[in-house]
Amino acid sequence: MATDQDASLASEVLAWFDAHGRHDLPWQHPATPYRVWISEVMLQQTQVATVIPYFRRFMERFPDLPVLASASLDEVMALWAGLGYYARARNLHRCARVLVEEHDGEFPDDIEQVQRLPGIGRSTAGAILSLSRNERHAILDGNVKRVLARYHAVPGWPGRSRVTRQLWELSEQHTPAARPRDFNQAMMDLGSMVCTRRPACHLCPLQSGCQAYARGNPMAYPERRPPRERPQRAVRMLIIRNSNDGILMVRRPPQGLWGGLLSPPECPPEAEPMTWARENLGIEIQMQDAAPPLRHEITHFSLLIHPQHARLIAPITLRDEDHVWYKPGVSLSGGLPAPVQRLLEQKEPAI
Ligand code: ADE
Ligand code: SF4
Repeated sequence: MATDQDASLASEVLAWFDAHGRHDLPWQHPATPYRVWISEVMLQQTQVATVIPYFRRFMERFPDLPVLASASLDEVMALWAGLGYYARARNLHRCARVLVEEHDGEFPDDIEQVQRLPGIGRSTAGAILSLSRNERHAILDGNVKRVLARYHAVPGWPGRSRVTRQLWELSEQHTPAARPRDFNQAMMDLGSMVCTRRPACHLCPLQSGCQAYARGNPMAYPERRPPRERPQRAVRMLIIRNSNDGILMVRRPPQGLWGGLLSPPECPPEAEPMTWARENLGIEIQMQDAAPPLRHEITHFSLLIHPQHARLIAPITLRDEDHVWYKPGVSLSGGLPAPVQRLLEQKEPAI
């Protein structure tokens, strides 16, 4: 059921469209399902001004569905070159063949069937059927999302399915039975001409009913993607010094964090360091005070390094070139991971 508010949004938007909307886009004359489909797929990731010349060339070469379906994929790709997102062109070509082979060369009237065609999602399906046949179907592209999220001050990031579901419901409720074609074109035009990223609310027909405007913060909607929580990983590193102030460095395994580079030995969290060093490095050590942890951000996680300083008790000869005594300021530091270098600059705690 459309409420009074829904009816008023539609009538404001339609009146605005009559005076200010786009009425002369090439795919509007004539607005056949074929032409609307091609234009909508081109417009999925590309601006109107860029699309127009591509659309014209495409229509010259492939004026209708049978011509497109019998063309080779190479020819389609050639006319798409420069538009990007080439999966769109491959899907277009496949979709043309499916339409010819399974749907008598016509777009089905059932939106569910249209949505199942290659490269056509719910919003594109709604756009094809409403813009070409004036059928009442809702759409929800980026522009419409922005207008509705602001008009209703919808909280949350539209990447969340709960938020998208809510926006779809609103779009369904607002889409009028009269003039659905013009209404959908109007919402896209409003979103790309007035309610842009930095909206021109003083030119907007929806100002009086717009909740984001009333709150004074239209740009807060739709909410942006929340920053990804990077998983935390903690490691304990033993900074072991010998009597010569050399620091023990061990070559890391080739796979994984800092593969193949030298770093202080990493002691598992559950192990007791003195025992672990005796069993795994063959050395006796004496622990020093704990040092503050060091944070290091890596692409996929946040690393918290807990340095554990220690002193070598009995001198030893290191087994091989994968174990070295590193002298800060004396040895070459080229091959060290950056956080390890910072770690080695830490002051040595007391015994
Ligand atoms: N973006 C997607 N479809 C559009 C259309 N029909 N007009 C303007 N911008 C659009
Ligand atoms: Fe967008 Fe401003 Fe219009 Fe609200 S009043 S719909 S924020 S342009």
